[in-house]
Amino acid sequence: MNARKRILEDLPREHGFEPLHVEGALPPGLRGTLYRNGPALTGRFGRRYTHIFEGDGAVSAVRLGDGAAQGAVRLVRTAGFNEETEAGRLLYGFGAPWPTRMRRAWADREKNTANTSVLWWNDGLYALMEACRPVAVDPDTLDTRGERDLDGVIERSFSAHPHRVASLDTVFNIGLRYGREPGVVLYAWPRGGACRRLGFVPLPRNTMLHDFIVTARHLVLFVNPVTVNLWRAIAGIGPFEKLLQWRPELGTEVIVVPLDDPERPARFTVEPFFQWHFANAFEDGDAVVVDYCRYPDFDSIGAIDALDASDIAMPVYHRARVRPASQGFESTPLGLSCDFPRIDPAQEGQRHDAAVVLGHAEGRDTLARLAPDDGAVDQLALGADAVASEPIFVPEPGGAGWVLCLEYDGARHQSALAVYAADRLPEGALARCWFDHHVPLTFHGAWVEA
Ligand SMILES: [Fe+2]
Repeated sequence: MNARKRILEDLPREHGFEPLHVEGALPPGLRGTLYRNGPALTGRFGRRYTHIFEGDGAVSAVRLGDGAAQGAVRLVRTAGFNEETEAGRLLYGFGAPWPTRMRRAWADREKNTANTSVLWWNDGLYALMEACRPVAVDPDTLDTRGERDLDGVIERSFSAHPHRVASLDTVFNIGLRYGREPGVVLYAWPRGGACRRLGFVPLPRNTMLHDFIVTARHLVLFVNPVTVNLWRAIAGIGPFEKLLQWRPELGTEVIVVPLDDPERPARFTVEPFFQWHFANAFEDGDAVVVDYCRYPDFDSIGAIDALDASDIAMPVYHRARVRPASQGFESTPLGLSCDFPRIDPAQEGQRHDAAVVLGHAEGRDTLARLAPDDGAVDQLALGADAVASEPIFVPEPGGAGWVLCLEYDGARHQSALAVYAADRLPEGALARCWFDHHVPLTFHGAWVEA
């Protein structure tokens, strides 16, 4: 087996914060905790899930300060997970026997896998998965506190990609509504305030919408031509990825929602493409500039599961100029093959000077910093056995900042948090903080300043 693929093995043990072995020197000014989330089990009770997206989430954390590091990791024990634990067998998802999962599907019950991302907001830590509600997690023990609807505001789903607009100090998010009247519920959650429903955008079909982006004036959706086969979902017919169908003839619908008039979006259809993730967006005259990682098709759904991107068209960092008044859409590739873009949180919703990304070059994972205005790229290729995760940019008062990346080393079968100087990525890590075990693949994370 390819050594890299062992990152997909089950989490070997759970633990609270314990010292990690530090190689190199951690920057003294770097104080805080990086939380991350990802599917940590490939199955339970002798049965296997049919796709990595079905895996039960585990939140991992690395706390840095005073030159030392502590690490923790725990499964997110949602109601569905606990129900399966008590039953001693799988009850949900395509790993469960057909009659079992059918009974729950007909009763409109599902398991929240809470396996995709974390949100730290208004002094709360939440594990997120796009089809379900947020799950509160204790930031110090990583114990699961339970699902939250934020005082009855969250309908059924709260995407794993909330975006904060720095100038508004507000987190925005979307939640998909499936069924006969599909659409997207929009949420706004200001600092220190309550989450509220901002609006609803009807959609012509049941689809998947993993991410969106927002500026101080507009919320932008790129609705790709992926349809959800609800009949298969209701009938409980797997495997997971067959629920989703690539229909390029439908094109991608661009929807620009004015934040001050959310019921009157501009919407028009452009060429088919797919994106998992947006980097940022900002206003520029009559245009909304949108940076995102663009795929020509939806083949990545299988590549994620196999951790093998060798047969798919790779994503490219794009900058689109969207003109809602004239239905203009021009998207320009900026050359870098990458996904999982992150920017300086202080620049979210306004022009950003750089994005840090997880790149690919010659069969290896790379970490890269891209300056979109001039296309300059700093890039570092990791070892052949290494699996990188989404890099996180951490600002440094008076400095260039750091890039944090939870990396897996297939030769050691262990994971480490690597710390890089953001302006000197190609020089390699300043420090690596090693877990004594591997942390299964994580998708997204959040840095919480001490
Ligand atoms: Fe994502």
